[in-house]
Amino acid sequence: MNDRFGLQPQPQPQPRKAKPRILWLLAGPLVGGILTHWWDLILLDKYYSLDTLFNSHVVDGDFIYFAEVAPKLRRHKRIVGLDEDDSSWSDGIDVWFPKPDEDDNERYQRHRSEDDGECISMHSWQESSFPSCNLIHEMDFFSKYRPGGDVTHVTHGGFNELYRYKDRYINSTGSIASISLAVKILKYEKDYTAHKFGVVRQDAVTLERLSKSPYIYNLYGYCGFALVVPFVTGGNLNDKLYDWRHGDIEISSRERLQYAVDMARGLRDLHDIDGDGVPSATHGDLKEHQYLFGEDGRLQLGDFNKGQFLSKSSTTGKPCTYKPPSTTYNDKVFRSPEEYMNIQQTAATDIFAFGSLMYYLLTRQRVWEGMTSSKYRDKVRKLIIEGKRPEIKDTILKSQDPVDVALKKAYEMCSAYDPEKRVSAKEVAEFLEGVWKQLY
Ligand SMILES: *[C@@H]1O[C@H](CO)[C@@H](O)[C@H](O)[C@H]1NC(C)=O
Repeated sequence: MNDRFGLQPQPQPQPRKAKPRILWLLAGPLVGGILTHWWDLILLDKYYSLDTLFNSHVVDGDFIYFAEVAPKLRRHKRIVGLDEDDSSWSDGIDVWFPKPDEDDNERYQRHRSEDDGECISMHSWQESSFPSCNLIHEMDFFSKYRPGGDVTHVTHGGFNELYRYKDRYINSTGSIASISLAVKILKYEKDYTAHKFGVVRQDAVTLERLSKSPYIYNLYGYCGFALVVPFVTGGNLNDKLYDWRHGDIEISSRERLQYAVDMARGLRDLHDIDGDGVPSATHGDLKEHQYLFGEDGRLQLGDFNKGQFLSKSSTTGKPCTYKPPSTTYNDKVFRSPEEYMNIQQTAATDIFAFGSLMYYLLTRQRVWEGMTSSKYRDKVRKLIIEGKRPEIKDTILKSQDPVDVALKKAYEMCSAYDPEKRVSAKEVAEFLEGVWKQLY
């Protein structure tokens, strides 16, 4: 037939197969999805400790670890229970109940009073906690943790990772406003022990009790090993004083006194949580790093991880002293003789550390400047135990600047060798406030 018309069959253009096209269409998101998922896992690994945020709950003081999101990653996590055998696993939920750390009383040797009474809690709040886990679970970490997202990793200390969390809310005028929060959470590589649980609880409970004080920073949430606190952009006092010490900035006398007043008020409020003038908690790690510049430029104290809830004698009601395990000793050289002598301590230990801060504001130098490295550590500690004091330049000793005079006085009030002779935080705060009222 074709021959007859002299025509050859013309190859018809083949319709392109639809199938591969559809496949490619499917493959795109599929590959994308796998890559995203893979990337998520990498990120999740990076932002590992957030995992614990999604998954931890505190119920009546018991810590429950939910393994619902990242069971693969959970594998890397070492959960150290006091009795791991008690952990049960069912339907993807791993439940771990730590018992109160029995070692704790041994570790922090409570000193029994002369009369041999027991050391008991001063206040019931010392044994409580106020977790707000729902609030923390409502924070959308999972979709926000990407770099450049609303959750970013900021830094880490010896104990915690610090994340910045940008939260949005509808403000009173109906607009969307945002606030930056800091999420502090136990470092991933740390073991989850009842002891650490107690340390975080102590920080949280102290902050909660002190939410009434404008000189202590706020607590927005607490759950398990996580705290949500304000994210400050004003930096901390250490950064400020560092720049000052190195001559990069000037700090006026007025500012120095303002700092001293605010710092003393923070410590005063900590040492008088219950308003009865009897310290029931200590800071234990008081230094310039622990004071943050709040929104209005006011210094606020925080970080109560190393503090102590003080107990009292069951018979006399007098405060019990305590002695932390020597392994927790601060390696710095601005602390009290009793700490370096490894003997019993009281809230007056914080006062000595506060004196070192007054010295800094007075002299533009840290105590034992030039000898603060570990090389001189033992030497300086020996000097402190012997009752020696760091030098103060003649020009400062003779200074007529009333702020210098006041800071020198505050330093002396706080750095008495005998803890009993040191002033209370309330006294030093009142003294500094008095000077402030006179001058400004
Ligand atoms: C509410 O938020 C808007 C947008 O961030 C802001 O401009 C405004 O000042 C806020 N109003 C109040 C009362 O905070």
